[in-house]
Formats: sequence, C-alpha cells, structure tokens
Amino acid sequence: MASSFRSLVEDENRYLKSFRLFLERSSEHQCMQDFIQGVLPEIFTKIGKGKSSLNVIGVGSGAGEMDLQMFSQMRLKLPGITVNNEVVEPSGDMLFKYKVLVSKTPNLEYIHFTWNKMTASEFESHWKERNLDKKFDFIHMIQMLYYVKDPEATVSFFRSLLSENGRLVIILVSGQSGWGKLWRTYRAELCNTEISQCVTTGDIKTFLDAKGIPYKNYELPSKMDITECFTEGDEKGELLLDFLTEVIDFSKNASPELKAGVKALLRHPDCSSEEDGRVIFNNNLGVLVLDP
Ligand SMILES: C[S@@+](CC[C@H](N)C(=O)[O-])C[C@H]1O[C@@H](n2cnc3c(N)ncnc32)[C@H](O)[C@@H]1O
Repeated sequence: MASSFRSLVEDENRYLKSFRLFLERSSEHQCMQDFIQGVLPEIFTKIGKGKSSLNVIGVGSGAGEMDLQMFSQMRLKLPGITVNNEVVEPSGDMLFKYKVLVSKTPNLEYIHFTWNKMTASEFESHWKERNLDKKFDFIHMIQMLYYVKDPEATVSFFRSLLSENGRLVIILVSGQSGWGKLWRTYRAELCNTEISQCVTTGDIKTFLDAKGIPYKNYELPSKMDITECFTEGDEKGELLLDFLTEVIDFSKNASPELKAGVKALLRHPDCSSEEDGRVIFNNNLGVLVLDP
C-alpha cells in the first residue's frame, strides 16, 4: 500500500531546509568524509592505474560537498590526473550551490564539469537515445537512490556504464540503522512509492545477492540528534520529523495514533540511545562498492 501523505520531496523548499538541518544535527557528512579519506584512496589507485584521465559521474550530487572531497583525495592519490565529471542533479537550487562551491574552491582546473540538470532516469533515457558507448571509471550515488522509482534498475543501468577497472559506489542508510527499523515498521504508512522508496543497503544487498553480483560492504557509524522532535510545536523538531518520515507537516497531517506510534519508535532503543539527556538516533550508513 502506498502512503496517502504528501511527500516532503514535493516541497523543494521545505525539503532543502529540513535536509540542511539534518546535516547540522547529524554526523552524516563527517562519517562520509572518514570513508572518503580512509577507504576511497585505495579504490582510486586501482581505477587510475595506467590512466591520465578519468570519467566520473555523480548521481544526485546535491551541492557537491562530498564530490569535491572525493576529487581532492583522487588528486592526492593520482597527481596529474584530469577528470571529466558528469553531474546528474535535478534540483536547480542544488546545482547552483554546487557551481558556487566550485567557483570558490581553488585548483580545480583539472576537472571538466558537465552539468546535467535532470533525474537519473532522464539521464538514462538521453544516454540510450544517443546510443553512447563511453565508459566511466568512477560513479557514485550518495544518499539518492530513495528518490528513483526503481532503485534496482538504476543500479543496473549505471553499473553497465563502468569501464574495466571502474567502480560504482552506493551510499544509503544501513539496514541496521534506526531508519531501517522505522521503515520496516511503518513503510506502508510513510512511504509514497510513487516518489520515494524507503530503501536501505540491506535491500540493495538482497537484490545483488539474488543476481549473483559481487560487492564490498562497509558500515559507517553515524548519529543524529533528534531531541527536538519530542518538544511539541518546536519548529526545528517539526522539520526533523518531516525529514525522518518524509511527510510534509507530519505532525499536522498524521493521525494521533500514527504520530504517537512513530514518536515512540523513534526513541525506542531499536532506533535511538540516550546520551547526556539527548535522544540520539542511529543514522548508520552502508556503502556498497561494485565493479563492472
Ligand atoms: C539527500 S540529497 C544527497 C546529496 C549529496 N549526494 C550528499 O550526500 O550530500 C539527495 C539528492 O538527490 C537528488 N535527487 C532527487 N531525485 C533524484 C533523481 N531522480 N535522480 C537524481 N538525483 C535525484 C536531490 O535533488 C538531492 O540533491
């Protein structure tokens, strides 16, 4: 059953506001940075072997913060490399922020950016229409597979674009996180499957296992302070609740039973722990690394 609520993604302004707040309240980008600095360099060495130029796609890159961190590690590992970077991002606002970030960051002359203001599936259609056979050395999809209609088909398409030594990196919330528990319990009520999928790395692993596609899996510990969600009427708490449920104005639109059930689950030990009087949600991420 699909949820009857309006999805947060339908209101770009509110979505971006709640996403920004989520980044402030969580160690989301910090744990990704640890992965980018700790694990990716070894992967870059493998994909860059014998190459002077790399083809890269960022799918759902947002404002590009993580992309530029990855490029900086890539450049450290592969000095002298040049990069052709396709950015696939449907939000004009995000693309604008990404371009501003690029303009303010020194020494990026080695990267050629192609801005594709479109969804992953629009990119796929254009690619197929033009019958292109270009291959890519590094493709990343960071926290974006929730927003495609068919995450598995999207993974299959982008994997088909990998070069011989190429790698596809997928980051999503881990099946073991508070998100996984929330979605296993309230998927029918919260998930508007027309717009967004409550998908975790657990779901993608099940798909890859069924297809016999090998992958490497990393778990990234991450936390999110959701204390404000439990103060009725708190503006930031409401935004965080919208982000967690993916529902616009969840507090106003949900039935009292659903609201109580979701809030109880959010502070249940399956989802959160209590630290110094704060409610800390388990925001652990999973990373899957695939080869061609
Ligand atoms: C949660 S943000 C993640 C942004 C960035 N990767 C990061 O981790 O900071 C999700 C991004 O996916 C983009 N997005 C939404 N639907 C998409 C689609 N169908 N195809 C590609 N990107 C999409 C959004 O505009 C947004 O920038």
